[in-house]
Amino acid sequence: MAETAKTAVLQEETRIFNTPQWIIEYSNSYQWMKKKGFKTEKEMREWCSQNYLDFWDEMAQTYADWFKPYTQILEWNPPYAKWFLGGKCNVAYNAVDRHAKSWRRNKVAYYFVGEPVGDTKTITYYQLYQAVNKMANGLKSLGVKKGDRVSIYLPMIPELPITMLACAKIGAIHSVVFSGFSAGGLQSRVTDAEAKVVVTSDGFYRRGKPLPLKPNVDEAVQNAPSVEKVVVVKRAGLDVPMKEGRDIWYHDLIKDQPAECYTEELDPEDRLFILYTSGTTGKPKGIEHAHGGFCVGPAYTTAWALDVHEEDVYWCTADCGWITGHSYVVYGPLCLGATSILYEGAPDYPDIGRWWSIIEEYGVSVFYTAPTAIRMFMKAGDQWPKKYNLKSIRILASVGEPLNPEAYVWFRNNIGGGQAPIIDTWWQTETGCHVIAPLPMTPEKPGSVAFPLPGFNTDIYDEDGNSVPLGYGGNIVQKTPWPSMLRAFFRDPERYMKEYWQMYWDVKPGTYLAGDKATRDKDGYWWIQGRIDDVLKVAGHRISNAEVESAAVSHPAVAEAAVIGKPDEVKGEVIVAFIILKEGVQESEDLKKDIAKHVRSVLGPVAYPEIVYFVKDVPKTRSGKIMRRVIKAKALGKPVGDISALANPESVENIPLIV
Ligand code: PRX
Repeated sequence: MAETAKTAVLQEETRIFNTPQWIIEYSNSYQWMKKKGFKTEKEMREWCSQNYLDFWDEMAQTYADWFKPYTQILEWNPPYAKWFLGGKCNVAYNAVDRHAKSWRRNKVAYYFVGEPVGDTKTITYYQLYQAVNKMANGLKSLGVKKGDRVSIYLPMIPELPITMLACAKIGAIHSVVFSGFSAGGLQSRVTDAEAKVVVTSDGFYRRGKPLPLKPNVDEAVQNAPSVEKVVVVKRAGLDVPMKEGRDIWYHDLIKDQPAECYTEELDPEDRLFILYTSGTTGKPKGIEHAHGGFCVGPAYTTAWALDVHEEDVYWCTADCGWITGHSYVVYGPLCLGATSILYEGAPDYPDIGRWWSIIEEYGVSVFYTAPTAIRMFMKAGDQWPKKYNLKSIRILASVGEPLNPEAYVWFRNNIGGGQAPIIDTWWQTETGCHVIAPLPMTPEKPGSVAFPLPGFNTDIYDEDGNSVPLGYGGNIVQKTPWPSMLRAFFRDPERYMKEYWQMYWDVKPGTYLAGDKATRDKDGYWWIQGRIDDVLKVAGHRISNAEVESAAVSHPAVAEAAVIGKPDEVKGEVIVAFIILKEGVQESEDLKKDIAKHVRSVLGPVAYPEIVYFVKDVPKTRSGKIMRRVIKAKALGKPVGDISALANPESVENIPLIV
């Protein structure tokens, strides 16, 4: 094994949290395991991965209906996969139509909770069916056809999933652009996708104020010649200019449309959506996903990893502008016929108890959120969740970045009643569904994502393409395809090949490089260390920024931490930590030393942060990821590049120059 590929595990987590037996026995995955006669979880996971075609076939039969059965499960010509060949399907049929025609017709699909307190709406599967059909007919009336792209730039209101499903129904390709992006971000995405229609709203509510959205579209569309029509939802009651001949109100568009609409019978490889995600170059990449894969991957993992049952009230707090919203607010739960919460607003409006009040009011039983939110609540204090009855919670889940052990324990004790497992799910925009995660039956180690899920052949390779032994780390790879995998980059086959498949092409063609590093401990548990480009090199040792941050956050005074490497003549790099203190903690030089010593005591001298700074905030993406690249550039006096996609661009100014 190449010496450079090793990433030693510095901190061994020894605590194990077991899920109560009743939660295990109730879980979908456990019941499947018993039905199949597997004796252990390990045996089940291994069998499913070794026999991955049989496994995915069974999942495709279990979770989806097919207009025409497929005749071949997979055709694999690396780096291009086709799944469920010869079949016909449509994810909108699986998500909506079939429920509206079954006993679920009056079951709640979404409880919509607007940000203004009391602004709520209940949408049953039958009502969703009618709304989707009307919008599908509306889009058709604007000339949208199969294969056309529709950009959706909406806040978290029901029209967002409705428009996504309406596109799917008629075979149009949706491209959701997060409503927090500025006009520039929207313009580049609309132009790249050559969208024919943009669907937006006059505005939305954020922290009690109606904020405008439509002006961003007006600005973006000026330089997007493909756009013929702009559809505008009236949400915030704002007075927005409407351009004659181009702009149309959503309510006018759907007013006279029939509530029935033909669902296109599509080839499973027909594209469902393009979602833009950031890569290392800064130019967003348009990841393409297909109908067939999306009929299977999200539903299977919503049932197995998130353990959503028919009678659950499920809430994934993600915005549909990100992949988590696509897979776990829209397609996964709806394909299962589940009941979900759709919340429009901020987590701290009118106060930081808002989310807990929603959980209490609706009896949410499965709750899926992100570490950055958990740490924010942790910082605000235990008194907030204590005010509410959260006894309905059975399963907690997390996504997007490593969940540090401190936050894990806080979440489990304060939100999960000390008993709910935390399903820490590792996956990506590119994978379309969870890839590595515990199941409810898995004994959990806080901070670990446990093991690859059934059906995946995920491994850790060194730089030469050898699987690394337990106790070491390297690059996360996928050795076999899976149904909800990315199919292509929109109109950029070269970059698709280069970013994901080139790395091991000469030794093991068809190996997918995820772009993340991970280690496995002696028990085989997986620990995500962050992106490949985020790993520090200190005195010849590779150290994960995320690992150091987690250690810093385990200090009682620390709320959040961001760690970068500063070039150093002797050591290669030294560790610099930017620390956000908990509310009420006084800054002092002694405290800086104490935090550095604490990190050293947790991870060892090699991980000692030579420099500690206190900051009020660190730059983050809208999905909550700390932008270490931006921090590093600012701290080292280099150009920070385009920061328009940040949630808090003003935080960049507070990062001190450290050279
Ligand atoms: O670095 C990993 C991190 O988020 C990346 C994927 O980001 P995105 O495509 O925006 O999708 C986010 C939601 C799936 C991964 O390459 N990541 C995601 N989940 C985890 C994670 N890092 C650690 N633990 C996770 N559970």
